[in-house]
Amino acid sequence: MCGIFGYVSNKKESLGPILIEAAKRLTYRGYDSVGAATFDGSKIDLRKDIGKVEEVSVRYNFAEMRGQRGIAQLRWATFGEPSQVNAQPHLDSDGDMVGAHNGNVVNNVELREQFIAEGMTVRSQNDGETCVHAVERYVNRGYEFIDAIRLAYGDLEGDYAFLIGHANDDKLYAFKKGSGMVVGLGEGFTCVSSDLPSILPMTRQVIRPQDGEIVTLWADRVEVRSVKDGKLIIRKQETVTESMDAVQKGGYPHFMLKEIHEQAQVARELLHVLNGNREVGSLVGKMKNARHLYFIGCGTSYHAALAGSVFFAGLARRAAIPVLAPQFIAQYAPSVDHDDVGIFVSQSGETKDVLNALAAAEGRGMACFGLANVVGSTLTKATSFCLPLCCGYEISVPATKTFTNQIVTFLYLAYRMAGRDVRELDRIPELMEQTLEIVTPQIEAIAKEINEWNDMYCLGYGVTYPIALEGALKLKEITYAHCEGMLSTEFKHGPLSAVREGFPVIFVAGPNDAPLIISGINEVKVRGARTIVIAEEDARLRANGDDLVVIPKSDPQISALLGVLPLQLLSYHMSVMRGFDPDFPRNLSKTLTVD
Ligand code: M6R
Repeated sequence: MCGIFGYVSNKKESLGPILIEAAKRLTYRGYDSVGAATFDGSKIDLRKDIGKVEEVSVRYNFAEMRGQRGIAQLRWATFGEPSQVNAQPHLDSDGDMVGAHNGNVVNNVELREQFIAEGMTVRSQNDGETCVHAVERYVNRGYEFIDAIRLAYGDLEGDYAFLIGHANDDKLYAFKKGSGMVVGLGEGFTCVSSDLPSILPMTRQVIRPQDGEIVTLWADRVEVRSVKDGKLIIRKQETVTESMDAVQKGGYPHFMLKEIHEQAQVARELLHVLNGNREVGSLVGKMKNARHLYFIGCGTSYHAALAGSVFFAGLARRAAIPVLAPQFIAQYAPSVDHDDVGIFVSQSGETKDVLNALAAAEGRGMACFGLANVVGSTLTKATSFCLPLCCGYEISVPATKTFTNQIVTFLYLAYRMAGRDVRELDRIPELMEQTLEIVTPQIEAIAKEINEWNDMYCLGYGVTYPIALEGALKLKEITYAHCEGMLSTEFKHGPLSAVREGFPVIFVAGPNDAPLIISGINEVKVRGARTIVIAEEDARLRANGDDLVVIPKSDPQISALLGVLPLQLLSYHMSVMRGFDPDFPRNLSKTLTVD
């Protein structure tokens, strides 16, 4: 949801390459436009335009930008269409300050009207510009710069992080409200960013400011002050030990392919962590005693929640209600109370829809727990206990390894609820490795054959229904084709009319569902469809479907988990064949911190 990066050096230097590299590592947050600003003495050099950092930085020769302070911004458009004028950073009216933000300022329109009425020069529709004018307003009224920033914080409603600098100064200032922000301290420089990956290659010494705090960055130190009273706050410096490999492609052409191939390893690590985590027992106890149990998430995380509820029913005979986070507020929040338990599922731990649902649930006293990948994210802090997904960084916008580890976590919890031996799950990583090895050549061939189609369906039943939904989401997300995921038995209730000669219909069949899926296959086949079946070896399915993509034998739940791997690969290869970048599909962002 946009990314910002700021850098303060102790010497005048070539800042362009530093800003470009940092911006590249923030690309996953948005790529509608990119901009960079440097402060060279009292001169501000601002260059920005629509497009990805690789193109814009060359078009505008960012590499030649010099100075002692610099700001970069990657935009995922909300307020104002993607355009050069709406691209960030933004100048104030007379061009002596420049700032950029990520997130959304929800009173943007009202504030812009006020600024125009106050005689300021408002050039864009973008709320990043609004943040700059919010500071300018108080500078114009005679406040010291830091006090103007403190007052601006009070005027800006929403969830965002903001970074600003003044030409006649040697510092940058940053603050955040409901959005992530990390400050880095290195040899001869300090920096600030929306997220850790852009900082890690430069330094491992970080500070994590909280909401309501202003950070002032000099080249050799940072200072954190409270927005409320301007008092100094002591924030401890941390040393980050995570490996840098996580934010490199490691020889793969795309992060997505690398992350697909990391799935077995992160599942292994997750199982190890779950086995050693004492809190899991207490969570299971709470879920057993709950009046109602809710699994809440959005997008891919919702699909994992849905799979979780099927596992809980099938393995532990326990109903759990899977629900899309915003719908939880309307449909369930009014009736929940402290006897109910909610598991909030999110890769980023920052999805606003999920955090809104969490706030609604907490307001009613519900016991709230989390499942998140990003350690230190809002969800991990706002829930009484949050299980880590242990995936490391997932850079690619399409979720892959975080989905499979969400599934593994739900499976593990279902086993514990059912009193089954969780050691049975230890075979999962090896089965995942085998699956990728077996299916890859066949999936590449199928991708070529069906790539001309811009419309298709992906069907599942029972335990594979959430997998079909997830496969369809992956396909539409990165191939831009329409692909609908559906319960296979529902297909005859309307969508069947879409079928014509060669129309691709993908089935994900669980080991116990072959007879039912065979009916579905034949219903579409007799109408000309091309059927692709993902399942364990089964002579009946082989005889009925056009292609059988065989996954290793296991049991229904694990088989469902394995079933998503060919779908991830299919979407990846089709995306690449179409000339798209699967890591950064158009219009999307990895972290959705807006309503
Ligand atoms: O970070 P979250 O898991 O809360 O994000 C929710 C969705 O935006 C996300 O799962 C999205 O659907 C995936 N990136 C799609 O691949």
